[in-house]
Amino acid sequence: MKLTARSVSLVPIVSTVAAAALGASLIMAGNANAATTLGAAAQQSGRYFGTAVAAGRMGDSTYMGILNREFDMVTAENEMKMDATEPSQGRFTYGNADRIVNHARSRGMRVRGHALAWHSQQPGWMQNMSGSALRNAMLNHVTQVATYYRGKIYAWDVVNEAFADGSSGARRDSNLQRTGNDWIEAAFRAARAADPGAKLCYNDYNTDDWSHAKTQAVYRMVQDFKARGVPIDCVGLQSHFNAQSPVPSNYQTTLQNFANLGVDVQITELDIEGSGSAQASNYDRVTRACLAVSRCTGITVWGIRDSDSWRAYGTPLLFDNNGNKKPAYTSVLNALNAGGPGPTTTTTTTTTTTTSNGPGPGDCTASVSLNQWNEGFVATIKVTAGSSALKGWRVTTTLSNGTVTNSWSANRSGTSGTVNWTNVDYNANVPAGQSTEFGFQGTGSGSGLNPTCSAS
Ligand code: XIL
Repeated sequence: MKLTARSVSLVPIVSTVAAAALGASLIMAGNANAATTLGAAAQQSGRYFGTAVAAGRMGDSTYMGILNREFDMVTAENEMKMDATEPSQGRFTYGNADRIVNHARSRGMRVRGHALAWHSQQPGWMQNMSGSALRNAMLNHVTQVATYYRGKIYAWDVVNEAFADGSSGARRDSNLQRTGNDWIEAAFRAARAADPGAKLCYNDYNTDDWSHAKTQAVYRMVQDFKARGVPIDCVGLQSHFNAQSPVPSNYQTTLQNFANLGVDVQITELDIEGSGSAQASNYDRVTRACLAVSRCTGITVWGIRDSDSWRAYGTPLLFDNNGNKKPAYTSVLNALNAGGPGPTTTTTTTTTTTTSNGPGPGDCTASVSLNQWNEGFVATIKVTAGSSALKGWRVTTTLSNGTVTNSWSANRSGTSGTVNWTNVDYNANVPAGQSTEFGFQGTGSGSGLNPTCSAS
């Protein structure tokens, strides 16, 4: 094994405790620097604040005025779904989707793509398909649509709502599910191949309460995908709340536990039925939960005015029918302002280890990016080939005060002390100068990992 000289730099990026216990409105009253729109307030901590947009409302000047003023992320409410983009098999239509995407991009807003594969809102021709014909049609749809929008989408909801409600923890029965349990990972792989730059998300509802079987089932799927190297970058919690499905007390725990798997989490379709201060306080709690989780990268509400909502009867949004700000709006804005600048989380540090001299032929280097919180950590290790390609690699790490609980994209021996890692089949070959990554999650401290790499 050839070791190269290493220099270690420790860069603390955050050390802030969320001001959750403090009255946000009191804090904000005297803060002359508070942002005055949702998007600007979210940006203070590197997050976004988005809304669903319906192409049919884009001629409404009140609607567009609020959209352009307040939001910096957009999701098409229906226009990028399967029935809209492939109305007959092999004929793709993007007119309404493009109106939304082009408007967003022209104003510097990002776009969440919604959704590539779903049991609902399928075109009629697809509803009647099954077996390998359906599997191929689904994969073709994912490939075509993700390719068409390549480079324009921040994150795709690759698969939407694939798990059953209730206590079973099972997959939802659907024509797509009946093509085989691996349909979800097949969709993610096709999406990655078509648009390698987009974050790929699994999105669902009733996955907000950590104790629910459905939440646990989605968690296990994401954990399994990470372990097997299935490309997944984020989990979306739709977060449609009402009296029957209230904001759970463990909502922040759910966000944090998903994030701990090494994925971003996003609140993707937020709406909370109600009015006045009760609704405002629920919106406040949801916003603070996201701000308290460093990998909760943004919030999207499912529409602008109550009258724009898919469940307008519940007045679940931040603006009333006339476009006036509701108490819920003010509580979200104040919470976002209280949270910035910087992600509000308990101590998170990023440690980077680099070589001072580049690796030579047949050699490699390893560097670590560490996300540490109070009780545990996620480490991502980057393996970089030297001036000739790697055909296999081995990394050694040191865990003095931590224990590995879960890992992905590498074989492991040991869980603490000296832990050795070797490539798996699909990441053995690394071209000269290129990199591959693997990762692991652990309890305790991940500091002092000092990874060293050798070719094997
Ligand atoms: C809803 C739209 O808001 C409605 O206009 C449409 O009639 C049905 O779909 N989960 C999702 C969203 O992922 O796509 C749904 O949007 C709401 C529930």
